[in-house]
Amino acid sequence: MSTAEFVVVANRLPVDRGADGEFKHSPGGLVAALEPVMKRTDGAWVGWAGQPDLTLDPFEFDGMLLVPVALSADDVELYYEGMSNDTFWPLYHDVISPPRYRRLWWETYVEVNRRFAEAAASVVSEGGTVWVQDYQLQLVPKMLRELRPDLTIGYFHHIPFPAYGLYSQLPWRKQVLEGLMGADVIGFQRVADAGNFTRSIRRLFHYETRASGIRIPQEDGSTRVALAKAFPISIDVDAYVELARRPEVQARAAEIRESLGNPKRILLGVDRLDYTKGIRHRLKAFGELLHDERVNVEDVTLVQVASPSRERVEAYMQLRDEIELTVGRINGDFDTMGHTAIRYLHQGYPREEMVALYLAADVMLVTALRDGMNLVAKEYVASRIDNRGVLVLSEFAGAADELGMALRVNPHDIGSLKDTIERAITMPGAEQGRRMRSLRRRVIENDVDAWSRSFLDALARVRADSRAQG
Ligand code: G6P
Repeated sequence: MSTAEFVVVANRLPVDRGADGEFKHSPGGLVAALEPVMKRTDGAWVGWAGQPDLTLDPFEFDGMLLVPVALSADDVELYYEGMSNDTFWPLYHDVISPPRYRRLWWETYVEVNRRFAEAAASVVSEGGTVWVQDYQLQLVPKMLRELRPDLTIGYFHHIPFPAYGLYSQLPWRKQVLEGLMGADVIGFQRVADAGNFTRSIRRLFHYETRASGIRIPQEDGSTRVALAKAFPISIDVDAYVELARRPEVQARAAEIRESLGNPKRILLGVDRLDYTKGIRHRLKAFGELLHDERVNVEDVTLVQVASPSRERVEAYMQLRDEIELTVGRINGDFDTMGHTAIRYLHQGYPREEMVALYLAADVMLVTALRDGMNLVAKEYVASRIDNRGVLVLSEFAGAADELGMALRVNPHDIGSLKDTIERAITMPGAEQGRRMRSLRRRVIENDVDAWSRSFLDALARVRADSRAQG
């Protein structure tokens, strides 16, 4: 097999396999974030093809070498649905849903992480760089370093890292930190996440942590330095701007407004159907605004796109039931023949349709209870080339650190969420323009290219320093 100097390792490959067996780019945020770097470096991507029991040889796709890792149906259940999405996901999102700790899940997680590490080790060339992505693969950095000490290894954590008081629940808390410390640079979304991580290291290992990095004692008496730092991720801004400028996308936005009966204001929510996203809180606030007659169904419609996600995990099934019950109740109470309160769409859409929706929406509601970054907030801002529209943004989303000119909100405080939504609906055009221009400057400055460059520069620096010392 040919080798690559730069290799990304992620749970998923950046492609989806259609019913016809053909591969297409998958629409996820991570894929969009990393693809430009991959193309620039002729890199390889190690990941799962998204279906159980599918064994595939490495293949070329759009200038990248894709290296599939096979997962059996049991692996999917125990490593992906279990350990990744029923233990780490809820624990790292501040136990919004109770995490479950199962020893068999952990054993499979270790085994599957080893498989990913071995696949990466087999494809990366001597002295190359591997960039490991996200919580599904936290043990890979250490495993890879043991297999290939010649490599430079980066890890980026796309989701929050919790405070020690929560993290310490994890029965395997030391092993996971050891896994992550195998990387030269461990990247987080927020300064607070990097802080939580280094505090856990201090509590559990008593290693010295400085601004220049964590000092990890080695068996031979030397010290290795690993840097833990925030690198807030972003989006491919140009791609959104380009779509927003297209006449057919703008025409589609007008068509969407028309199809909703041309309400005075369209509110929009776009999320994976996940309990971290605060969809219930958003629906409650909107339902109460209708009930209080502070908004009228003739004037205001909420469009909620909730794309299907992790549908075999119990907490997600329950959430879907609750949300659909709530939407049904609100619509039943407030719809008229010609107008609906909530247009609920349990579907995913291509990027072009999303940009049309962003252009059609007067108010974007991001009410996450906890979110690593929330790229939807940035996508909305990038798409608003007309400098109009209002972003309501939860202070618990990583994006809140950067997007200070959004209307910030605590989604747990339903009263203030209602006030904020009302303020967004009634915001004068001049204030919308002033806020949106500032938000756009911020998103344009730190696009996904700036993100990957700053991470990879830091990685190269840490590695150069450690080579100079070692
Ligand atoms: C989040 C995670 C990603 C994950 C994505 C979709 O953004 O940070 O690692 O890929 O959700 O979830 P899924 O379970 O479908 O891969």
